[in-house]
Amino acid sequence: MNTIKTIASILAVSALLAPASLAKEKTTTINVIPYPSSVEITKGSFSARGAQFNCDAAMDELSRKAVSTFAIRLSKACGKTCTLASPVGIAKNAREGKVKGFAFYVDPALGSEEYTLSITPKAVIVSASDANGFIYAVQTIKQLLPAEIYGRGAAPDNTNWRIPCMEIKDAPRFPYRGAHLDCVRHFFSVDEVKRYIDVMSFYKLNRLHWHLTDDQGWRIELQRYPELTLVGAFRNGTMVARDFDSDDGIRYGGYYTRAQINDVIRFARERGITIIPEVDLPGHMLAALATYPELGCGTGPYEVWKRWGVSDQVLNVGREEVMVFLENVLGEVAEIFPSEYIHIGGDECPKKEWKENPDCQAKIRELGLKDDEKGTAEQKLQNYVTLRMQKFLESKGKKIIGWDEILEGELQSGATVMSWRGAEGGITAANAGFDVIMTPTSHCYIDYYQAKDREHEPLAFDGYVPVEKVYSFNPVDKINPDMQYHILGAQVNLWTEYILSDQQLEYMLLPRLLAISEVGWCAPELRNFERFRQTVITHEFPILDIAGYNYCKEILKEAAE
Ligand code: ACM
Repeated sequence: MNTIKTIASILAVSALLAPASLAKEKTTTINVIPYPSSVEITKGSFSARGAQFNCDAAMDELSRKAVSTFAIRLSKACGKTCTLASPVGIAKNAREGKVKGFAFYVDPALGSEEYTLSITPKAVIVSASDANGFIYAVQTIKQLLPAEIYGRGAAPDNTNWRIPCMEIKDAPRFPYRGAHLDCVRHFFSVDEVKRYIDVMSFYKLNRLHWHLTDDQGWRIELQRYPELTLVGAFRNGTMVARDFDSDDGIRYGGYYTRAQINDVIRFARERGITIIPEVDLPGHMLAALATYPELGCGTGPYEVWKRWGVSDQVLNVGREEVMVFLENVLGEVAEIFPSEYIHIGGDECPKKEWKENPDCQAKIRELGLKDDEKGTAEQKLQNYVTLRMQKFLESKGKKIIGWDEILEGELQSGATVMSWRGAEGGITAANAGFDVIMTPTSHCYIDYYQAKDREHEPLAFDGYVPVEKVYSFNPVDKINPDMQYHILGAQVNLWTEYILSDQQLEYMLLPRLLAISEVGWCAPELRNFERFRQTVITHEFPILDIAGYNYCKEILKEAAE
């Protein structure tokens, strides 16, 4: 695309930001990501400055919190107090168009996470049936306001606080819209995890998959096993760049206390986000093995790993004490996190040690596991571990998610598969009747490079997943139409081998997070990369600037090519 044409089209889209009363041309699209299901632009504009806020008495605490937080921020940004009230009869009056200012009311007929937004010169009327619906309506309103709403202080006096009138009906395509964050390979502070959650919420993502344990560190404090963080949270060095034979010899680590985790869970919940914790088992367990060598197959010494990759040293699942340890860990994790799902990992567990270990071989004999066309006896030993954890967590009212390796051998119903080694595992699983979350490396691994010119990019894992590749992902591709409901949604994964700072973390996340947001939210016919790209450039980058996020600008270059 040539540059002049690009600038002209950016300006045309920017005109949409102007209040309808000022815009010369009739506008047909709005700058909101993810793009709403239905938008009808009408005449006139609403002045948000100093507007009164009214909340239906039937709204729950989370919904009210979303509204009051917004009212406080709007008051500060526009330098005029927006008062907040809960007048009786607001739902009826809102329905009949008899209110002024912002009015939020519960409409039980709407689905989960759905909302409607009616903006007239007199009022902004929002209806939803649950907290996420109200939270998303507020996010949409924020995107319709000047970017200064995302800042902290007062906006310049001449900021225009008018919102163009329109009617929006909006609901997500998929119930699971996720981002994963690896806080093991590099550790990120509570403040940075909150910034990650905050930007997820701008774009209506609703699941944070928090990777908390692995070979390189144990990051969650457990009351039952305090040594896991006293010992297992720290390593005696980190490999330097891609040199697998070296390490910097610098002690590195950290963990989240129970109080910090509770704080993050609450922070996420107020933003419509459920945190799904991952305890990766029975491989990727060196941090636990370094803490309690007796859990291993006797091939120590063990150390919290200083390098990346896949270790042959795994848990000795032939021993009952090891299974009890896992149940105790998962039991405490299940108590801490209100999420319906607990992620139990299951990826990259080499079977070398189990083949040689007498306890594992005795367990295989005891369970009568045999090599056959479904898998090896050792793969079936992993199935036994998966099923035990599944049953245990079910007894606590939880369900499991596992990486797609859990499909090897024989998976039992009730487990959800996270397809990462491509979409094939997810396709097989969904067609066989398992729920699936799609996170294939090809489209969803945002630890991969996002620009072709690697020399000028921060060191990344490998591969190439630019923003348009994420955007092009179709989570239900090749799934039988009658099985597509098993695809719960999609997620981007951010592993942090080479991510050394908060700024680099945000750079890898943004703007690819915005692309997965539309993959998860928008019906296929509403996805349009050109519209998305223009909105990202003209509207979202200024928002991210004001909110202080670092992001990759490659999309600008592509627009100018
Ligand atoms: C993974 O990337 N090992 C799930």
